[in-house]
Amino acid sequence: MAIRVIFLSCVFFLVSNVVSMDLYKDPKMDVEVRIVDVLQKMTLAEKVGQMTQIDLTVTDPSVMKDYNIGSVLNGGGTVPEGNTVTAWQNMIDKFQSGALATRLQIPMIYGVDAVHGHNNVHEATIFPHNVGLGCTRDPELLKRIGEATALEVRATGIPYVFAPCIATCRDPRWGRCYESYSESTDLVRNMTDFIFGLQGEPANKTAGVPFVADSSKVAACAKHYVGDGGTMRGIDEANTVIDYESLVKIHMAPYVDSIAKGVSTIMVSYSSWNGVKMHANEYLVTQVLKNELKFQGFLISDWEALDRITTPWGANYTYSVQASINAGIDMVMVPYNYTIFISELTRLVESGYIKMDRINDAVTRILRVKFMMGLFEQPFADKSYSDYLGCQAHRVIAREAARKSLVLLKNGKEAGKPLLPLSKNASRILVAGSHADDIGRQCGGWTISWQGAAGSTTKGTTILEAVKNTVSAESQVIYESDPEAGFAKSQGADYAIVVVGEPPYAEYEGDNLNLTIPAEGVHTIHNVCSEVKCVVILISGRPLVIEPYLPMMDALVAAWLPGSEGAGITDVIFGDEEFVGVLSRNWFKTVDQLPMNVGDKHYDPLFPYGFGLKMGTALGN
Ligand SMILES: *[C@@H]1O[C@H](CO)[C@@H](O)[C@H](O)[C@H]1NC(C)=O
Ligand SMILES: *[C@@H]1O[C@H](CO)[C@@H](O)[C@H](O)[C@H]1NC(C)=O
Ligand SMILES: *[C@@H]1O[C@H](CO)[C@@H](O)[C@H](O)[C@H]1NC(C)=O
Ligand SMILES: *[C@@H]1O[C@H](CO)[C@@H](O)[C@H](O)[C@H]1NC(C)=O
Ligand SMILES: *[C@@H]1O[C@H](CO)[C@@H](O)[C@H](O)[C@H]1NC(C)=O
Ligand SMILES: *[C@@H]1O[C@H](CO)[C@@H](O)[C@H](O)[C@H]1NC(C)=O
Repeated sequence: MAIRVIFLSCVFFLVSNVVSMDLYKDPKMDVEVRIVDVLQKMTLAEKVGQMTQIDLTVTDPSVMKDYNIGSVLNGGGTVPEGNTVTAWQNMIDKFQSGALATRLQIPMIYGVDAVHGHNNVHEATIFPHNVGLGCTRDPELLKRIGEATALEVRATGIPYVFAPCIATCRDPRWGRCYESYSESTDLVRNMTDFIFGLQGEPANKTAGVPFVADSSKVAACAKHYVGDGGTMRGIDEANTVIDYESLVKIHMAPYVDSIAKGVSTIMVSYSSWNGVKMHANEYLVTQVLKNELKFQGFLISDWEALDRITTPWGANYTYSVQASINAGIDMVMVPYNYTIFISELTRLVESGYIKMDRINDAVTRILRVKFMMGLFEQPFADKSYSDYLGCQAHRVIAREAARKSLVLLKNGKEAGKPLLPLSKNASRILVAGSHADDIGRQCGGWTISWQGAAGSTTKGTTILEAVKNTVSAESQVIYESDPEAGFAKSQGADYAIVVVGEPPYAEYEGDNLNLTIPAEGVHTIHNVCSEVKCVVILISGRPLVIEPYLPMMDALVAAWLPGSEGAGITDVIFGDEEFVGVLSRNWFKTVDQLPMNVGDKHYDPLFPYGFGLKMGTALGN
């Protein structure tokens, strides 16, 4: 009897141990073993939930739990009340508690567009946009920017960013051209070292296994696969017409590097390739990216991209779900109507139009990233990172990046008479232009709000403030945003600094077929440069039509969208540092040359790709 009791309790012990022994919860187990263990325990509803990413405005802990939601994001500019570090941490932890209250306690992964620093968050460090970073030719700097961005993102409790954009922008008329490092694929490829900054560097840097080093790093997302920068006339989300060989050579190559470097996720492009929507392109998404290039992380859709597969918008959502999931998309950025997405996907699986193997592949990849990055062990915000947001050390890096991205295009009207470097102790200095004293314009789109905005939208140093901080105490700095004719002359300034350019914009709202400097900027250039020696600092996401105004200018600096640290500009124009930036894109003469890229037969730019003067060896010296 006694023996029998002991025997029974042993059996009971063993059985209960097996039941409660969830291998997937054991961090010592191999990731692939953990995936298999949890996957065989999951219901269809739990799997479909993992594939669903929804916007913060439509979720709360009960939605997270009831629908087994796998991921949450916020659109550009959608932020928790107050937009503070604590508000972000609390909000995300609250959603996470909902996810962890599910049967299998699978954590959700929160993602955010941190595309030039943690740009939605007030007082975060804002780094230059990618077009400027391409001019630095400095992958090591890119890595440091990635590290800093990861820390600022972690400060708010977020483990995942939708960056870097590795588009090869072939036409500056595209509203997203500033999100691209270059027109040159080779340069974009080098800049993918940014991924090492965000995620950390694996021991084998070419192994191609998704990798996030630790909780100070974040999962990255290479985007937008593939051909986003090659659409006709640069129209956003439109059609890229190109043969397969050129698609691979120009647009796909940076994905090969990103996968080798361990990128965790890849976002699919809104655009089409030869008329087929990328979100429905099984050949490029599954056969090429997953099977040939051996990408092992997860593929995410773009925002409401499924709704755009059929026209008009959402005409046949059933078709969209079927086509995109069967094409190989693993997680869908729904982001609002998740009940419709979930019911359509469930129905398509139950009726056999989508195979369970496809669902298992998607969930395997999502879980692989979640396990690999330690999300099961550390699902909540680590508050020890809070102080990194907008910290001084990161602003120093942003200032260095702004400085190194500047390209000197002209210095002096006559041989031997350069204007730069400017004297710090001139008695009177005129600063003019719509962009001279404006953090919002200096940062561009994707800053605090999706489109960005003019004005003091966040913390930073404007170029005017940086000038005042740089010149001698005796120098008088006169500021006039858009001076009338006669004003510059009447001030008796020794020289003028004119800062003009494009207004902030993002995505299709930035598509532009004329690429002219807005009229106010032209007006300022005319009125100032015709009356006093001037350096023009152009703030823009791309080259603009500049040839007609060039003869008027004594000096011209392309500053791109430099971000929150205006001192990066004064560090160079006053001669404390030399110009090191060279063009990441050629500077066209007229828009009817476009598209025109280095290597083209009709290549005849105003300033070629790779151009950039030094003050020391500038015109005439
Ligand atoms: C890319 O990096 C390699 C290795 O550092 C270098 O030789 C090459 O010139 C770089 N290419 C571009 C376009 O910057
Ligand atoms: C790194 O990974 C690549 C790709 O799997 C492999 O070819 C190479 O041998 C590995 N290098 C080392 C040092 O393990
Ligand atoms: C919508 O798409 C589904 C799935 O491809 C198809 O069966 C159905 O006929 C389509 N509906 C319409 C109205 O075209
Ligand atoms: C959700 O779908 C319904 C029905 O298709 C539509 O009326 C509504 O506008 C959608 N809501 C959002 C936020 O997209
Ligand atoms: C400008 O000031 C510095 C020190 O403040 C001085 O060394 C220099 O001679 C001055 N230059 C001119 C042109 O006045
Ligand atoms: C150039 O195009 C932009 C964007 O379409 C438009 O807002 C602007 O008015 C145009 N400018 C000129 C001078 O045509």
